[in-house]
Amino acid sequence: MEPQAAHTSSTAGIPSHGEMPRHVAIIMDGNGRWAKRRYLPRFAGHRRGVDAVQKIVQTCAQRGVGFLTLFAFSSENWRRPLDEVTLLMQLFIGLLETEVRKLHDNGIRLRFIGELGRFEPKIQALITAAEQLTAANRGLTLTIAANYGGRWDILQALSRFAREQPEALAAEITEQQLAPYLSMSHAPEPDLFIRTGGERRVSNFLLWQLAYTELYFTDTLWPDFDAAALDTAFTSYRTRERRFGRTSEQLEAAKYGKSELAPLRVANDA
Ligand code: IPE
Ligand code: IPE
Ligand code: MG
Repeated sequence: MEPQAAHTSSTAGIPSHGEMPRHVAIIMDGNGRWAKRRYLPRFAGHRRGVDAVQKIVQTCAQRGVGFLTLFAFSSENWRRPLDEVTLLMQLFIGLLETEVRKLHDNGIRLRFIGELGRFEPKIQALITAAEQLTAANRGLTLTIAANYGGRWDILQALSRFAREQPEALAAEITEQQLAPYLSMSHAPEPDLFIRTGGERRVSNFLLWQLAYTELYFTDTLWPDFDAAALDTAFTSYRTRERRFGRTSEQLEAAKYGKSELAPLRVANDA
């Protein structure tokens, strides 16, 4: 069966959005530096990072965020020293074994995106079990990006599309045709992107999906990122004017009912 895309693409139409982001995507960066400042091994920072994950998941659920996507391990992170990668995998297994049940009890739906086949079979089995256990939950959808890369995502979508619909390749492909094959097809595009740890880059995270996302960068290191820090990001989000290509004047006019903000369509979205 062909998968269906259920969400508006920000470049094909204007997605609905409100005071609070519906979907928050986070690059959790700065664990290593958090540890280094305390003369601790980098791994101590990753451990503290897990505490921050728990807090942020809980806060997002409380604030009514529908989708939270966390960058846990990039396709480039295999370049790290073997002992750090090994410890990260052990931490990942430990979390899958202990935390999934608690997330499930809190009504959280878990999804994993990335080239998961590269992980050891034990991790893959735990991932599948976690997704199956929580599939019917209606609370926050928590997506973990693991061995994920934004370019890989676009390429895997194109490859699957070409395999499943070779006849469609003869014509021009539309966004709507490709959307169901992208790994975040279960969620609307992120409204708010947060990167902790001070770097101002996207590091091959959700390249396609961030097209119209509001970007927020903070120097706070991930283990220190708490509910108050998240609320500061939400406050910043509320000050943003999301124009999606239109002018401020158009938005103002629409607010006072003087003009329509009909779902403007781009030319090739007929
Ligand atoms: C992010 O923290 C966690 C992962 C990439 C797994 P870092 O480990 O990148 O921390 P810094 O950037 O070295 O401080
Ligand atoms: C990005 O962090 C990946 C994750 C947080 C999982 P990095 O710390 O690996 O990013 P770069 O390589 O410094 O940009
Ligand atoms: Mg880093």
